[in-house]
Amino acid sequence: MVRIGVLGVGFMGKMHFNCHRANPRVKVIALSDLDPKKLAGDWSMIGGNIADKRAAQVDLSGLRLYAPPSELFADPDVDVVDITLPTFSHAEYAVAALEAGKHVICEKPMGISLADCDRMIAAAKAARRLLFIAHCIRFWPDYKVLRQIIASGKYGKVVSATFWRKSLTPTWSWDNWLLDAKRSGSAIVDLHIHDTDYVNYVFGVPAAVCSSGVVGAVSKGGVDAVVTHYIYPRGPHVVAEGTWALAPGFGFTHGFCVVLEKATVEMDCRSGKPLTVHTLKGKTLTPRLPKDDGYVAELKHFVDCIGKGKGSDIVTAEDARKALAVCLAEEEAVKTGQAVTVG
Ligand SMILES: NC(=O)c1ccc[n+]([C@@H]2O[C@H](COP(=O)([O-])OP(=O)(O)OC[C@H]3O[C@@H](n4cnc5c(N)ncnc54)[C@H](O)[C@@H]3O)[C@@H](O)[C@H]2O)c1
Repeated sequence: MVRIGVLGVGFMGKMHFNCHRANPRVKVIALSDLDPKKLAGDWSMIGGNIADKRAAQVDLSGLRLYAPPSELFADPDVDVVDITLPTFSHAEYAVAALEAGKHVICEKPMGISLADCDRMIAAAKAARRLLFIAHCIRFWPDYKVLRQIIASGKYGKVVSATFWRKSLTPTWSWDNWLLDAKRSGSAIVDLHIHDTDYVNYVFGVPAAVCSSGVVGAVSKGGVDAVVTHYIYPRGPHVVAEGTWALAPGFGFTHGFCVVLEKATVEMDCRSGKPLTVHTLKGKTLTPRLPKDDGYVAELKHFVDCIGKGKGSDIVTAEDARKALAVCLAEEEAVKTGQAVTVG
């Protein structure tokens, strides 16, 4: 049984808390948040871009409730600290938790800067503890199956791939940190990083990025919309769009259209259609998808790794650093109007 303390009870803290609670190999024994209402079980103010119909008032009896994270780190019964704090706080608290001897699961993006990532990686190494970064799209059923389809070679090589992730403007975060580029990294680093990381995972780190976008439309000084062409000199042609500048009524969607030599694979989460493979021979196939969503699957995987005392073979902290490095190159490309070399 892995005993977990969740640090930060917002959109993702609530998500992780509920995922862990459904996993019989895990016991959430503690929560930490600086908001006393959340520690009293009033979660009515928690927002997000994915509908969540779970109770707004939560029974937290039996849990250890800590306001300062230092008390969570000092609890000798906590094996793992699961950090779902705003991005600008990840490095500070991940390092402190690791130094206190805890394994750490931390939400993506790993940090706000590459220096943050380096501090976290060094702290994990020095403390000989495991560090997992929750890049959930690597575990998301449609994206997992797409990668398997590509890797199988059954439909030949990828010719071109387009990914998208579009959201209403995130106005729900604690202290409005998401709309402050200095604290969130804005739409590229917070939202679009899901696709950048997936592109790295499937195609490798690109040689360069060409990006254009919109700065400061809804956030303080951040890139709120981006379109990036990831350059692979020997192919394929890969493009991703990310934006959070959309009106509230739009909600959220993500998806892809991948053209292989012998088939096209498409998915858009709100089309109502499952992931679909259209073959050149005229067949339309809908492969079976794993039943766990990406949040459930990634957290189960990290807990399994902790149980075995091993790092992840699906996403490493170095992978998460690379995703941030490419995103920062995309930001530079938007702001300078020049292609930026990466790999
Ligand atoms: N994987 C995904 O799909 C996904 C989706 C949304 C957010 N995220 C990531 O999850 C992280 C959290 O985002 P969120 O949307 O849940 O944020 P949020 O604003 O909803 O919640 C943050 C919580 O942290 C608490 N907090 C802030 N500073 C604290 C401190 N010093 N000590 C204790 N508690 C503190 C706040 O009170 C709040 O409850 C971010 O890194 C974000 O990028 C990932």
